Amino acid sequence: MLTIVSSSEIEKKRVEMLVIPVCEDADIHPPALMPALLHQARDLKGFGADNEDIVFYAPSGVLAAQVMIVGLGKKDKLDGEMLRRACGRAIKKCIQKEISEALFVVPFTEVLHMEPDVILEAMVEGALLGNYQFDRFKKPKHPSLLKIAFAVPKGSVQHARRLSQKINIICDGTLLAREWVIIPSNLKRPEQFARSLVQAAEKENLKTEVLDHTALKKKNFGALLAVAAGSDANARMVILEHDPGNTAQTLALVGKGVTFDSGGINLKPQGSLEDMKMDMAGAAAVAATMITAARLKLPVRLIGVLPLVENMPSGSATRPGDIVKSFSGKTIEINNTDAEGRLILADALSYVIQTYKPDAVVDLATLTGACVVALGERIAGVFSPDDEMSETLVASGRKTFERCWKMPLPEDYRDLLKSEFADICNITGLKWGGAITAALFLSEFTENTRWMHVDIAGPAYVKKETAYCGVGGTGFGVRLLCDWIEQMVKTE
Ligand code: BES
Ligand code: ZN
Ligand code: ZN
Repeated sequence: MLTIVSSSEIEKKRVEMLVIPVCEDADIHPPALMPALLHQARDLKGFGADNEDIVFYAPSGVLAAQVMIVGLGKKDKLDGEMLRRACGRAIKKCIQKEISEALFVVPFTEVLHMEPDVILEAMVEGALLGNYQFDRFKKPKHPSLLKIAFAVPKGSVQHARRLSQKINIICDGTLLAREWVIIPSNLKRPEQFARSLVQAAEKENLKTEVLDHTALKKKNFGALLAVAAGSDANARMVILEHDPGNTAQTLALVGKGVTFDSGGINLKPQGSLEDMKMDMAGAAAVAATMITAARLKLPVRLIGVLPLVENMPSGSATRPGDIVKSFSGKTIEINNTDAEGRLILADALSYVIQTYKPDAVVDLATLTGACVVALGERIAGVFSPDDEMSETLVASGRKTFERCWKMPLPEDYRDLLKSEFADICNITGLKWGGAITAALFLSEFTENTRWMHVDIAGPAYVKKETAYCGVGGTGFGVRLLCDWIEQMVKTE
């Protein structure tokens, strides 16, 4: 539970843990509000240094049972992400110490060259996201906190309450996406995953529709069905709609939902298979964004399209060299069954564009290992012919620290996807530029609609815990898309 209290209560609150972030080279709290303890602590070695935390037990001057002084480093280097990390770190320490409630003191001072909203937003995000532990199959070693509070100046309590409620909703969305990604593939085969998505969406009164195998066949989703062919689990396509009425624009979000990517007949080698339950992270992020948008009552019509398949090898699997007819009518030569994401996205993009005529479409996908080679594990690649739209996303990435980097879509690379026998091939014969050619493949199915592709193969999943994320799905894309949608609504 998240609460906001006035900073005049810091000394009087009977909490288990009081958390005070500090810088090493400046006072970032108004001295009158701070316990004398802080002044004494100043002389301790490491005080305020980045990553250095000092804990006092039963200190005098406050009613808190413990006080954690969290180091932020140098004042001029401080940014939102450092605050997010520091709060995530503090929460993890509290979890280890089996603390059930913590009160964070929010620095609101002229000394920091940061907007008060940015400070609060980052701190709340770091704490709420850091407090999450996946507990479906075993109890975590230590429980998560039950109560997290933030102390702000008296005059800003009302505003901080409103803002923190919004951040809470967005963090819940991120955690929902994380949870879906962590669930193993045996428990989220397309039909079951579709049900889970629909159930969560209906709670928020989103309109939902599910196309099953028969419907997909009838509507000629040839590329999507070709990916599903090897699995004994049938494909699904989930369509979610948030329609507040009277809106100027319709935005469509498409998310890759491969519930397990074995590679198909082009079977992946050991080492590349183990985390492929995460290949539906795009779908998870899109669905969670739709749900979040509904909770926030964002004044824009949103359509979410989630093609769900399992990519498996078997006697009925698609073979390298097979040719299929996509929903758009274009024929595709499937020369590599491991390049399956683009096949299901192609059909989903054509479908959403033809059916809903959106003003813009964004797709999120764990699409290529090549994008991870290019940008590493923490930055997503953005591909779009529309600079204005993609720059807005990159800016949202800077703000949320779900970082995105604009990649090129060179026209002359298009030839690499030529097929001898079909309209297009799903891979090139080359080793290089795989993230770009994958994006160019998708662009063949976007007609003239404003479109942007975000390759999240790197940042969707972490194998080692970070300051505010445990091992597993990161929920990457939810905070990013929520901010981006807000920007799109503002500029209409
Ligand atoms: N799901 C993978 C991409 C991926 C790789 C996601 C690593 C997350 C981490 C995708 O379907 C894939 O297999 N792509 C191939 C494309 C190739 C066959 C052209 C790849 O990147 O190797
Ligand atoms: Zn693949
Ligand atoms: Zn894949």
